[in-house]
Amino acid sequence: MKKWNKMQGAPDGEKAWKVSLAALLRERLLKRTQPRQEACSGPLIKLENLVKIYDTGAIKVLGLKKINLTIERGEFVAIMGHSGSGKSTLMNILGCLDRPTLGHYYLDGIDTADMTPDELSDIRNRKIGFVFQSFNLISRTSALKNVELPMTYARLPKSKRTERAKELLERVGLGGRKEHMPMSCPEDSARGLP
Ligand SMILES: Nc1ncnc2c1ncn2[C@@H]1O[C@H](COP(=O)(O)OP(=O)(O)OP(=O)(O)O)[C@@H](O)[C@H]1O
Ligand SMILES: [Mg+2]
Repeated sequence: MKKWNKMQGAPDGEKAWKVSLAALLRERLLKRTQPRQEACSGPLIKLENLVKIYDTGAIKVLGLKKINLTIERGEFVAIMGHSGSGKSTLMNILGCLDRPTLGHYYLDGIDTADMTPDELSDIRNRKIGFVFQSFNLISRTSALKNVELPMTYARLPKSKRTERAKELLERVGLGGRKEHMPMSCPEDSARGLP
């Protein structure tokens, strides 16, 4: 496990620090007031000098050290590495579940680094599909309602989301189990539910 005890890039003097912080805040505020542009050309994913540092209080742990990666549209990529090499850390950032400490992550041409939690959750809802190792299903509700849930967050009308959820369940061979609780669905199919 790599550890990093010293943060880099401390600015010279308190004044310079305050000036650069004010400039950064102003830049971010300006960006927030402008609608985000949806890019549709260029790479789907682009990472530039991506760094993740976990601050555990006592020590800082380096999770990712300056990752540069480009993934084009339609490309299939597997991330491989030994235990502790940072796969989960990277996947959490790619999935917009976590943010990098330094560097940039452009998803569809848009930098996610300064997005608010609400904007990140919108991206997760609209652009990213997760297949979790553990199913993360709501056990007290039916397979149909579990599939409908992300569409509820996306504010799709009830009739549309039910129709779409039924279609998706049919596609993974669970058409006959719409009203079943997740525990009674076959493992491989349940993994595909959310
Ligand atoms: N929440 C955390 N707090 C502190 N350090 C963490 C945290 N999560 C991960 N790390 C550290 O970050 C580094 C990368 O860990 P990560 O879990 O991303 O590796 P991994 O490749 O997914 O490993 P595995 O194959 O065992 O799942 C490791 O040194 C790990 O100890
Ligand atoms: Mg892992």
